[in-house]
Amino acid sequence: MGGQRLLLAVAGCLMCTWGLRAATLDLTSISGPAVVEQLLHLATFSDDPLPAVTRLIFTPNDMKARKYVKQLMKEAGLTIREDPMGNIYGRMHGSTKTTGAVVTGSHVDAIPLAGAYDGTLGVIGAIAALKALGEAGFRPEKPIEALMFTSEEPTRFGLGCIGSRGMSGALTVETLNDKLDVNGTSFQAASTAAGYGGKSHETILEGTRVKPGSIAAFVELHIEQGPRLEREGLQLGIVSAIAAPAALRVFFSGDGGHAGALLMPDRNDAGLAAAELALAVEKATLDAGAIDAVGTTGFLQIGPNSMNSVPREAKLEIDIRDIDAARRDRTVSSVLKSVEEIAARRDVRHRVEMINQDPPATCSQEVITAATEAAKELGASQKALVSRAYHDSLFMSQIAPTGMIFIPCRNGWSHRPDEFASAADIETGVKALALTLARLAGTAAAGEHSEL
Ligand code: GLV
Ligand code: MN
Ligand code: MN
Repeated sequence: MGGQRLLLAVAGCLMCTWGLRAATLDLTSISGPAVVEQLLHLATFSDDPLPAVTRLIFTPNDMKARKYVKQLMKEAGLTIREDPMGNIYGRMHGSTKTTGAVVTGSHVDAIPLAGAYDGTLGVIGAIAALKALGEAGFRPEKPIEALMFTSEEPTRFGLGCIGSRGMSGALTVETLNDKLDVNGTSFQAASTAAGYGGKSHETILEGTRVKPGSIAAFVELHIEQGPRLEREGLQLGIVSAIAAPAALRVFFSGDGGHAGALLMPDRNDAGLAAAELALAVEKATLDAGAIDAVGTTGFLQIGPNSMNSVPREAKLEIDIRDIDAARRDRTVSSVLKSVEEIAARRDVRHRVEMINQDPPATCSQEVITAATEAAKELGASQKALVSRAYHDSLFMSQIAPTGMIFIPCRNGWSHRPDEFASAADIETGVKALALTLARLAGTAAAGEHSEL
């Protein structure tokens, strides 16, 4: 692992009058077991019993998680600020006020029955990395910020990456107005009740959007959520691109009726239309003919959902992704054609809502190089990877040079209670993150004091 004393060559010091200086960073204070302990403490703020973690934004458990994150930021000596969407920043000051910050972070919200590592590693790990850099006496030239994003998961408001969409300007007032939770609560009402928010979605978005140039680079540490690193026995993945996600909601409605009395030729069964569509999603995705094309009907609800009643209503939520956006769009078009065809043939009414159809992201060479060099410095094995899951990095890449660092997770499992990453891999990931941040932020010249 390259020893405990890690040498960091600091490019900024090329400008020092006395030539190239190498700063020695002692990152021994980064402890995998200590980070795991914090992750498992965070996991206790869950609506389902452990090991399952369910944490929807602005619920009481999310508020407890936020409080814990802020406590850790404070203990790390970071200066905390929060925006109207509830994105939480913890800042380590840099020696210069004139450049953007190097930012790192992820999310702590968790889909129903998720695990303890998705997103949380990139928040707790970010704070641990900044704390260790401070303890190692590292004084950055650019400020470095640990960031906790609001609602990367789409569970409560039906749209993923709400916080990072808001920060990057990729979210419109109209889109946010449309997003109600299952109780009909708006984002404005929920965020305001949580102590964030504002008087309208317009003011919330205005207060959240990041000023041009205020982020110099963004890097996110995350579990891989796939099996490639573990299968190849590698410690780190350096992400080169993030696949393009799309999501749509489809409603079918028929006339329902009595399960005994209504004869088969007289039915227009919305449930069977939904079942056919779920199979059509699978077929359209397989027909794309690429291993990177994935399609999932993750939500299917029928009504009245009663054994002796022909389904009158059906609602599906469909997730389609690919690293090739044009091919992803062809799969989406094929699914939309199937909706029309099935509805006509089964004589059911239909409605489609496109939830999102986002472009893919290409990671920045500057961040890839910094992370690759950091991995080499640690002596950690690594490879370049495409992220098939989406992340807040997808939107940060629209406003700043962006990259991601992956660590292996057991069997590639994620979005399930038995999600697991080892303390050793977590330690390597957090150290790689710390070194990447140090490279991107540069070292304050000798004698310069941090901005206050
Ligand atoms: C994020 O959780 C995703 O669904 O990729
Ligand atoms: Mn997730
Ligand atoms: Mn995640």
